[in-house]
Parts: sequence; C-alpha cells; structure tokens
Amino acid sequence: MSFRALAPAKVNLYLHVVGKRPDGYHLLDSLFAFTEYGDVVEAFPSAELSLEIKGPYAAGLSCGEDNIVIKAALKLSEFCKVPAKARLVLEKNLPVASGIGGGSSDAAAALKVLQRLWNVDLSWDDLLSLALSLGADVPSCLRARPVHVSGIGEILEEISSVPRLFVLLVNPNKPVSTPQVFKERCGDFSRAMPLTAQELMPQNFIEALKARHNDLTDGAIRVEHAVKDVLEALEKYEDSVLSRMSGSGGTCFALFTDEGRLSAAKSDLEKSHPFWWVKETRFL
Ligand code: C5P
Repeated sequence: MSFRALAPAKVNLYLHVVGKRPDGYHLLDSLFAFTEYGDVVEAFPSAELSLEIKGPYAAGLSCGEDNIVIKAALKLSEFCKVPAKARLVLEKNLPVASGIGGGSSDAAAALKVLQRLWNVDLSWDDLLSLALSLGADVPSCLRARPVHVSGIGEILEEISSVPRLFVLLVNPNKPVSTPQVFKERCGDFSRAMPLTAQELMPQNFIEALKARHNDLTDGAIRVEHAVKDVLEALEKYEDSVLSRMSGSGGTCFALFTDEGRLSAAKSDLEKSHPFWWVKETRFL
C-alpha cells in the first residue's frame, strides 16, 4: 500500500511586500493559485526513512536531512511521536528555486501522504504551525486551493475559486535565490490590496490583477537578468490577458482565455528559446 499526492506549482497572481518584521521576514499581501501540474510525492511503508528523487529536475538535489521532504517527515514524526519510517519518492518536475513553491509544495504533500501512511490525524492548527516551521509558503501549499495570503505566509483566507484560465509557465532554467531577492528589494512598501468579491468575478478579475503587481520583480531581475528576458518574451503575446513573475522568480506566467492561443505561444517560445522550461497548465 502506498499514498501519493500532487505537489502543485504555486502561482502568485500578485505579490505586494507590505512591511518587514524585526526578524527580517517580510510581510506579504498575495493571491496564490495552484496549477494542475506539479511534483508528485509518494510514501511507501518501510523499516527506515529514505528519499528517492526522480524526474527532470532531480539532479543536484540532496536526498538527506537538508531536503525539505525529509525535514517534513522528521518534524511530523516528532510531533506525533511515531517512528519516522517511510520510503518517500519525489518526482521533481518543477524547476528548483524558481518562485513557484516547488520545495514548499513538496513539503506540504509529504505531510499529507505521511499522515495517511502513519495513520495520524493532526488538528488543522497543529498542521499549519508545523507547516510554517518548514517554510513561509508551506501553509498555503497545504491548502493547494486559491487563497489570499498575508503575514509572512501564515494568514490564509480561502477564496472559493479563480477563473479557470489557461496558464503558461516559463522559467529560464536559472535558479534564483529567494533570500537574495528579498534582500535586493528596495523602495517603499506597498499597500495591502486583497481582491474584493466583486474583483474576483471573472469579468473583473484580470483588470483587478493588472492594478496590482509583483514587488519582487526588479530585485529578481537584478539577481538574474534572464528573468527580464522571460518577461519581455511573454509581453509580446498580445493574446495573453496578463503576464507577470511569480514569487521571487525566476518563473513567470502568462494567462490566456483561449487554449489554442496558449498552444501557439508555447510552440513559438519553444522554438525561440529551446533551453527555457515552458509548461502549459490550468489553475486547480
Ligand atoms: O520561509 P522560507 O524558507 O521559504 O523563506 C526563504 C527566505 O526568504 C527567508 O529566509 C527570508 O530571507 C525570505 N522571506 C522573507 N519573507 C517572507 C518569506 C521569505 O523575507 N515572507
């Protein structure tokens, strides 16, 4: 018997940095959506704890205690006082250090499959604080549904749905360090602008997103110039209703209302930039 969970990619539809805590963490205001595409985490019974990583982005990732999936397993076993016994298999489909929550989503998926394998049932509050101790984005990744996020990532306000848009994810295949991008951020803080119920309606959604931005974009471009190339390439597609960077980058996204137009943009990008990661998906 084994348990399997999708670790979906996370997209920050907008991301405002609204303040900074004395410990250095930034206060955010962001709308997260998750995609049908992602990594996959599977847990099998075993006499000991191990992690195998396969898939296109497996190379270079450690399978040891510094891997967030192993950290999640150890924290859950300690909290629930159960032996940390499992063979975990991670299919790493998402680029590493890429602003779409790969590691955070893997950790959240590991918590889900291990709760089932070990037959433990945590309260939602305990699960959230365990998730937060693993990383600021892990609580929202546990939800894996559209969610408005504030605080450093721990204050979640569920949103019933976002329009089922077609999503093109593009990464220049250059890792971007999140702490470095936060350090590069400068200028005033933005104001929190959570979407109203009216703005969440499909006919208003895109205009509402256009009135917001990703405050980490300039910092990410200073850290990795290829992010600018991706944004400029996406801006060329006039059929796209919005293009923007996700999280701390370098993955950027373009949204389409028409699948055919997304496919055309995807083929075009694959020809013009064969070394970029280009993936079509939809919001969950
Ligand atoms: O929590 P996580 O390990 O994902 O964050 C990585 C780094 O990104 C933090 O150490 C911090 O430098 C930065 N960060 C931040 N404010 C946030 C989230 C992350 O400054 N809300």
